[in-house]
Amino acid sequence: MEKKKLLEVKDLRVSFFTPAGEVKAVGGISYDLNYGEVMGIVGESGSGKSVEAYSIIGLLQSPGKVIGGEILFEGENILTYDEKKMRAFRGNSVSMIFQNPMTCLNPVYTVGNQLMEAVLCHEHVSKEEAKKRAMEMLTLVGINNVEKRMKQYPHEFSGGMRQRVMIAMGMICNPKLLIADEPTTALDVTIQAQILELMKELKEKIQMSCIFITHNLGVVAEICDKVSVMYGGRIIEQGLVDDVFEHPAHPYTQGLLRSMPRVDAESYERLIPIEGTPVDLLNAPQGCPFAPRCEHCRRICLDEMPDYTSVGNGHQSACWLNALQALEGGSEVA
Ligand SMILES: Nc1ncnc2c1ncn2[C@@H]1O[C@H](COP(=O)(O)OP(=O)(O)O)[C@@H](O)[C@H]1O
Ligand SMILES: [Mg+2]
Repeated sequence: MEKKKLLEVKDLRVSFFTPAGEVKAVGGISYDLNYGEVMGIVGESGSGKSVEAYSIIGLLQSPGKVIGGEILFEGENILTYDEKKMRAFRGNSVSMIFQNPMTCLNPVYTVGNQLMEAVLCHEHVSKEEAKKRAMEMLTLVGINNVEKRMKQYPHEFSGGMRQRVMIAMGMICNPKLLIADEPTTALDVTIQAQILELMKELKEKIQMSCIFITHNLGVVAEICDKVSVMYGGRIIEQGLVDDVFEHPAHPYTQGLLRSMPRVDAESYERLIPIEGTPVDLLNAPQGCPFAPRCEHCRRICLDEMPDYTSVGNGHQSACWLNALQALEGGSEVA
């Protein structure tokens, strides 16, 4: 079956215009997401993962501004939508799960009420139908005693259960795209594992396209089809998860894999942190953002940002080293 594109992000640029100057949070990123595909976005804190996600859902906060590029959703550039169209888009086509459930659950309404409201807001169905959907959704995310739970308030749920409610909230309107921004980071490790297991099950049950932002590479290995590695507001490597994790081409990805525990690792290897500090996006360098921390850094790396080099089937890396190796090997520089 031919893969169909749901989302195409083309050279997206987002800056924050602060009193101190322009912070180039996202400095030109491009990727495609097909129907039914799950893409992981990984990278250190501050690399632009959330800003990227907020741009797609139209919730970028001032002084943040999209300053270039396109976000095509089913072929339409959502950056041209007005506020009304954007609100409808958020309700019907895309939804987001946040790190902290309380950012989208209202403490003064019961959970059942909020789930039903989400349905009634976007679809012309009866109250009974909305209630049925809410209960089905709670069951789907692994919540027991649904009748009773529907009448409870968010604070009556534990952290993990609240996160399940938020996942239910995110999925109840059948969005075409679900964006999960570090959905388990605030939870303790056991609960994290349960939520991830749930997301894995849901992925198999429902063919939903999903962007999964996390700094846990094990999670990506478990539930994602492809992965984008971000550094300093750029995607420096992207490809199928197996390709990128088995044959990381970019020195940053290689460092990241060495620095993080992997749930799928056979043995406990020693973790080696990446030396140096993250790039200052207020004074973003003109060359490769990783160059100052890179053990392979050459002159050209400091002067010029490299284009992508194809290092495999759909596997791309933005690194001069890869570009030069490709030239020596006689293959094309993408
Ligand atoms: N409100 C803001 N004002 C100024 N700069 C911001 C703001 N929010 C984010 N940024 C900039 O955008 C960068 C990326 O942020 P973010 O997308 O939240 O990172 P991540 O989600 O990868 O941890 C930050 O390093 C910061 O420089
Ligand atoms: Mg973030």
